[in-house]
Amino acid sequence: MDKIVIEGGQRLEGEIRVNGAKNAALLIQCAALLGDGKTTLRHVPALSDVRTMSRLLERLGCQVGGDRTLSIDPAGVAKGTLEAPYELVKTMRASVTVMGPLLGRYGRARVSLPGGCAIGARPIDQHLKGLAALGAEIELSHGYVELRAKRLHGGSVVFDTVTVGGTQNVMMAAVLAKGSSQLENVAREPEVQELARFLNKMGARIRGAGTPVIEIEGVDSLTGIDHAVVPDRIEAGTLAVGAAVTRGNVLLRDAPVDDMHAVIAKLQEAGVRCSVEADGLRVEGPDELRPIDATTRPYPGFPTDMQAQLMVLATQARGQSLITETIFENRYMHVPELGRMGADIHVNGNAAVVRGPTPLSGATVMATDLRASASLVLAGLVAEGETEVRRVYHLDRGYEALDKRLRALGARIERFHGAPG
Ligand code: UD1
Repeated sequence: MDKIVIEGGQRLEGEIRVNGAKNAALLIQCAALLGDGKTTLRHVPALSDVRTMSRLLERLGCQVGGDRTLSIDPAGVAKGTLEAPYELVKTMRASVTVMGPLLGRYGRARVSLPGGCAIGARPIDQHLKGLAALGAEIELSHGYVELRAKRLHGGSVVFDTVTVGGTQNVMMAAVLAKGSSQLENVAREPEVQELARFLNKMGARIRGAGTPVIEIEGVDSLTGIDHAVVPDRIEAGTLAVGAAVTRGNVLLRDAPVDDMHAVIAKLQEAGVRCSVEADGLRVEGPDELRPIDATTRPYPGFPTDMQAQLMVLATQARGQSLITETIFENRYMHVPELGRMGADIHVNGNAAVVRGPTPLSGATVMATDLRASASLVLAGLVAEGETEVRRVYHLDRGYEALDKRLRALGARIERFHGAPG
């Protein structure tokens, strides 16, 4: 297992191009199942989650090639098992979003139930409710969900919870259904909008993505296309916090500024200078950070995927910050690790009170999820002395070579292979 070692205290400075968005890429990979012919995806981040999705597509019978430019040809899927097995779904929950396209195009799917996950229970009841409304017959047995439908029909779905994956799954099922569908109380995340853009380019008829109601007119077929993935708002936000806490000055080239309003607003509240330039977002950390109050909410609210990183910023702000997590029930696993580095954080239910500024001191730390790991790397950038981040595979799921990228901005950071787990 790899580890990352950081010698804190360096300012981040320079320019960096933001990578393609993980969460957009994963869903577009699934959507490629719907096309007649090959889809070519550009600007795909080289991440283990993307590779896991490619492996799943191969298991389903797709021909997949390349990495940054990925080609996906679903011609062989019709003859395949149409099954997403436990080994793949357990490593990556987003695997369940093959359900919609498999069912919509091939009339059946067998997908392992994802089960519990480190950041909460994460059920898929809303995915199933939506697919049932389009005519799917659903059976749960032996830890798998089996879905069947000769051809899905249009339907009306009102989601009980705002769910990104649920919205995307049902949207991918509805594009080939007979008739029109209306999905209400949907997620408005940029990744939902990006998926809709992709599907419409393939020939789908989707309106309203980015609003609470999506309308879909079913079509008979879709074609494979060439598409470049949007830049990653969470990678950009993570690097922005890195610049902020190190009192650095970084230009995030291609940062998707329009998708980052809530994050930019919180950084500005903390006194961080964020300026939109012709080719991206410039982030300059102030000498003294101000405390912030932030509550995670579905988009356009503050993203849960930036909560752990923002908490590191709060440890460096003068005064008391309040961070509230409303999306996932168990997403404070970084808190005890930050505490071991000297942070003053008290969690009460879903609220975390952070008192700062506290000098952080380097320690050996590890996290059990992706964004928590990123927060520990950020903490290492400002900590005094050496921080060793273990279980780097969590980080590699969602950040391409974060160590190299931070090093290019001036951080003292190294990756070592074969560390203890
Ligand atoms: C996606 C993102 C993830 C992000 C999350 C919230 C991808 C691949 N992952 O995950 O990075 O943290 O959105 O922005 O895009 N829920 C139900 N029933 C369901 C589905 C969800 O109760 O059927 C609940 C979940 O338990 C959670 C909340 O809804 O509390 C939001 O989850 P959801 O939006 O579905 O997250 P994901 O799509 O899994």
